[in-house]
Amino acid sequence: MKNLSLQIDIKIYDYKELGSSDRELMDEAMAATNRSYAPYSHFSVGAAARLSNGIIVSGTNQENAAYPSGTCAERTTLFYANSQYPDQAVETLAIAARNERGFLSSPIPPCGACRQVMLETEKRFKHPMRILLYGEEGIYEIKDMSALLPLSFDASAME
Ligand code: THU
Repeated sequence: MKNLSLQIDIKIYDYKELGSSDRELMDEAMAATNRSYAPYSHFSVGAAARLSNGIIVSGTNQENAAYPSGTCAERTTLFYANSQYPDQAVETLAIAARNERGFLSSPIPPCGACRQVMLETEKRFKHPMRILLYGEEGIYEIKDMSALLPLSFDASAME
């Protein structure tokens, strides 16, 4: 028997410690939560992507009475970004979420389906996508999607 141990390296920042461009991106993700459509969960998620051309694209979770038809903020944002700017890599994706009491104290962990889509975006552009996850008690920075989704499935597995 062998043991394989995979580790994630996470840097934790106070909001005030973020550089100005990361702060701007996080502000966009937080502001986007106000445009979420979440009448069922009352859980409002916002995401903001900074593209290689410097443009910021943001999006929110969009729910539906037929629950599985809804989409998370991360996928709304990345699909929109990739549709509008199909040749621009995503440099950084910031995510924030709040429930009826306010922004989460711990960083919002993206769901598994979103992680898979985030990974595909990174692979597609062959460019690391940094992730910033907002929490009132600290903002997590993860350097790329391979770190956030270890042992992941991508197109290379089918070769
Ligand atoms: N949600 C997101 O938008 N992103 C995540 O990473 C986790 C969950 C949304 C989906 C649904 O609208 C609500 O949050 C509750 O699951």
